[in-house]
Amino acid sequence: MKFFVDTADLKEIKDLASTGLLDGVTTNPSLVAKSGAANFVELIREIAAIVPGPVSAEVGATDYETMYEEAKVLAKIAKNIAVKVPLTPAGLKVCKQLSENGTMVNVTLCFSAAQAILAAKAGATFVSPFVGRLDDIGSDGMNLISEICQVYSNYPAFKTEVLVASVRSPQHVVSAALLGAHVATIPPKVIRQLFDHPLTDKGIAQFVADWQKCGQKILP
Ligand code: G3P
Repeated sequence: MKFFVDTADLKEIKDLASTGLLDGVTTNPSLVAKSGAANFVELIREIAAIVPGPVSAEVGATDYETMYEEAKVLAKIAKNIAVKVPLTPAGLKVCKQLSENGTMVNVTLCFSAAQAILAAKAGATFVSPFVGRLDDIGSDGMNLISEICQVYSNYPAFKTEVLVASVRSPQHVVSAALLGAHVATIPPKVIRQLFDHPLTDKGIAQFVADWQKCGQKILP
């Protein structure tokens, strides 16, 4: 399973990239606004230089013509850019054109298996179903992941990867992995929570105390 970090915060990206566990980055207009960056294109250029894997950069427009022009600018920033487009007729039209030209595309704001089928047919590299936002309205985000994984596995010609987005907890990550989702894009806080277990902390404290007691050394 690939891990992307869901943030536009350069400091967080650098810090998490240093763990060696990061496979990519996803951003969206809300995350860019939160980052306070002055220049979006420059911000994406910097992120793409830190992480070799796919970096999702989202278009701002909603009409086909402007979206396509924006997409061309974003795709040129670096080789590892995945242009992010919304799951609308215009977004999928842009997706089809970009993917035919070899540009990675992340189709975002997916809330149904029907939409995920359309994204795959449009040649999306990634489809982003938002599990947390479905849970928020009393629906079951993981059920959507299960449906999409099942549908995609019925059609080996579909090459689109399921990128689980709107992740809110380590349990979301584990549930997505159990269902065989290809990627989870995870907020920095949740990535850090993945490391945590009280028995790990307790075990380390015990081992450190015993090591000190026995006076052994590994390094000369
Ligand atoms: O990047 C898209 C998605 O992960 C947003 O998550 O928490 O705003 O629903 P959230």
